[in-house]
Amino acid sequence: MLNFSYQNPTRIVFGKDQLSQLAKLIPAGSKVLLLYGGGSIKHNGVYDQVVSALSGFDWQEFSGIEPNPSFETLMRAADLVREQKIDFLLPVGGGSVIDGAKFVAAAAVYPGDAWDILANRGKVANAVALGCVLTLPATGTESNGNSVVTRYDTQQKLSFSSPLVYPLFAILDPTVTFSLPPRQVANGVVDAFVHVIEQYLTYPVNAPVQDRFAEGLLQTLIEQGPKALSQPDDYDVRANIMWAATMALNGLIGQGVPQDWATHMIGHEITALYGLDHAQTLAIVLPALMQQQRAQKREKLLQFGRRVWQLNHQDEERLIDDTISHTRTFFEQMGVPTRLADYGIAADAVDKLMAKLEANGMLKLGEHGDISLEISRQILQKAV
Ligand code: NZQ
Ligand code: ZN
Repeated sequence: MLNFSYQNPTRIVFGKDQLSQLAKLIPAGSKVLLLYGGGSIKHNGVYDQVVSALSGFDWQEFSGIEPNPSFETLMRAADLVREQKIDFLLPVGGGSVIDGAKFVAAAAVYPGDAWDILANRGKVANAVALGCVLTLPATGTESNGNSVVTRYDTQQKLSFSSPLVYPLFAILDPTVTFSLPPRQVANGVVDAFVHVIEQYLTYPVNAPVQDRFAEGLLQTLIEQGPKALSQPDDYDVRANIMWAATMALNGLIGQGVPQDWATHMIGHEITALYGLDHAQTLAIVLPALMQQQRAQKREKLLQFGRRVWQLNHQDEERLIDDTISHTRTFFEQMGVPTRLADYGIAADAVDKLMAKLEANGMLKLGEHGDISLEISRQILQKAV
């Protein structure tokens, strides 16, 4: 196992009716900015519950944060935070709203051009405090320090990480996910699944705790994901998916093990250029990447196939083939197609995506840093 230092400061408040805790969780006397997206929280009753919890606070709201939140929109929110001397941010929504609020938290108090935080590794030395209400289990952003922001004019989707933007608390009430459309339920399951894979499907470092946590999360998502589509009113299914998605990217399973993240980096370019949902891009890239990197990932692919997909052929090449095809079939069963062509994207996209990867410096991806531009090209060609 590799060395590590781990702290996750986010308090998770989980379960039915837990929005009732909100007023107590926000530091007393805070001047609060409620941030949300396109209005789903107004249709499922979450907005009304939040507004009632905020009755004892001085608060304002900022709405319209887009899926794949835009830099331009978030900079308007950052201006508002500065002008109004807001000292607590309350994002209520999915990954886009929470990621957006994290960027606002850093940008509002950043001394220079806040674009540097995303584009030039500008150091985040300070951030406005935040706590969140999660409505879409997928990204793990509710208890991590990551944020992904898209700049639409230059078609760049970039991220930053800072310990200063971990939410102070995250309220996870599975009942708020009943209103999710099937596409977003499926996206969430696929995203969480790929988060686990990015931290698991690398090479062995004799870390059985991390491996078995990861395998347990994958098995849970494989078991519960289809049920969330076929039994959408089942509370326990929603609860298990919500907790699995948080555990998939709260940092725990990635401690002391190598990590990949190439599927995400290549996927982000597909969203930036073609606007696909984040999880759709992962479903396209991952099966192709597993095929391309099958030699480097051989031992873990065999372990994944045997322990998670319960395959037991003697022929190891066949076992790896089946591991990849089971993964692809799972995404397809969740209703997330796995090829660029399924989204109407033609083969000439490969050159355009390569230009973006190069411009964004994605030259040495993967756990070995061996996914060069040429290898990324081969992955994308396998995903056509
Ligand atoms: O905007 P509203 O009206 O709220 O609607 C949203 C949006 O249209 C809707 N929605 C959310 N909760 C709902 C709901 N609709 C009905 N009922 C509910 N309870 O769902 C749509 C998608 O929301 P979005 O927040 O965009 O989805 P998701 O949570 O998948 O977040 C995706 C973003 O997170 C980033 C992605 O790149 C993408 O920008 N990621 C963030 C990560 C992190 N911070 O650690 C890691 C991930 O790998 C990912 O990159
Ligand atoms: Zn993701």
